[in-house]
Amino acid sequence: MFDRVWLNANLATMQGEGLGPIEDGAVAAKDGRIAWVGPRATLPLPLAGHAAEITDCAGAWILPGLIDCHTHLVFGGDRAGEFEQRLAGATYEEIARAGGGILSTVRATRAATEEALLAAAAPRLQALLAEGVTTVEIKSGYGLEAGTELRQLRVARRLGAAHPVAVVTTLLAAHAVPPEFAGRRTDYARHVAEVILPAAAREGLADAVDAFCERIAFTPEETALVFDAARAAGLPVKLHADQLCDFGGAALAARYRALSADHLEHASPEGIAAMARAGSVAVLLPGACYFIREEKRPDVAAMRAAGLRMALATDMNPGSSPALSLLLMLNLGCTLFRLTVTEALRGVTVHAAAALGLADRGRLEPGLRCDLALYRIARPAELCYWIGGNPCCGRVVEGL
Ligand code: NIG
Ligand code: FE
Repeated sequence: MFDRVWLNANLATMQGEGLGPIEDGAVAAKDGRIAWVGPRATLPLPLAGHAAEITDCAGAWILPGLIDCHTHLVFGGDRAGEFEQRLAGATYEEIARAGGGILSTVRATRAATEEALLAAAAPRLQALLAEGVTTVEIKSGYGLEAGTELRQLRVARRLGAAHPVAVVTTLLAAHAVPPEFAGRRTDYARHVAEVILPAAAREGLADAVDAFCERIAFTPEETALVFDAARAAGLPVKLHADQLCDFGGAALAARYRALSADHLEHASPEGIAAMARAGSVAVLLPGACYFIREEKRPDVAAMRAAGLRMALATDMNPGSSPALSLLLMLNLGCTLFRLTVTEALRGVTVHAAAALGLADRGRLEPGLRCDLALYRIARPAELCYWIGGNPCCGRVVEGL
């Protein structure tokens, strides 16, 4: 009756408002979907007996497979040199304004072949998977011209095909102004809207569209040009918003009913309330906050009070968050942003799924994809508690 059954496990189902814990639970899969989940004692026993494969989890905890809903993991080169410059006193913003930062990764990415980008990105992806990630979002944004932007997205698709993981792609051509458009920022935003975005949509390479709305990147008006084009192409939008200053990004994201607005360290209470009303998810990126030594924290208390859903992600990128561990982000989310364990864990499962517009995963519930992460831990809080180490002892993607 079932293809596979996992027994002798504790479950964090994420059903309801909390972790939805079930001690001594069982999960059953059929055709890649969860067919049954609940306490082992209530498992329809004759059916379990007919499962093709039964796994004894020896007391492990099973969570929905983790979802890293914000990464830039396809890029050329690295920025360790800039890290040293920052250690010597330069700020992230100063380096960007001097033509380094994102633009230095653009130079390295443009120079890299599709094969080279794939080879560089694969180990980064594998590091995330090893911790129990089963869905990952990957953005472009280091090409800033059609050819390289599409190449990055093609690499992201190929990574998904070559690994047991679901990859969701996002076009982030509006990430910085390329040298060809120096001094013509609005013209570049129009070029993204009229040329790059339609090309990515035509080739089916983008599942969503993102932009960097910031004083070192694009204004809300320029971002709106890109978002209008996304709407015309039928693509959902996301936004890098209010990371370095309050630039009205959260409110803009809400106006476009964005799936998410991300960063939000400087988002205003009004912006946060607007996002909650629009149903957008707040994606918190403690790795970036930590790594660029941003002192302002996202207003988690206001987000809670507004009933805004909060997700957590690595923001894996060479400049502001060279983070290859989503589990570490759980720890940073709790320590730096004061998230509760429940908030942090829902942030990498059910709310991360919402940040990607995916209704078919993020919880353990019949009918959803059977994506599971198994951990050798005594209680879920351990996933947020350890700094380093990896208790992941099993991973299942679509029942396999
Ligand atoms: O999410 N904020 C813009 N984009 C990235 C950083 C990109 C980079 O520095 O290469 C971020 O922090
Ligand atoms: Fe980012």
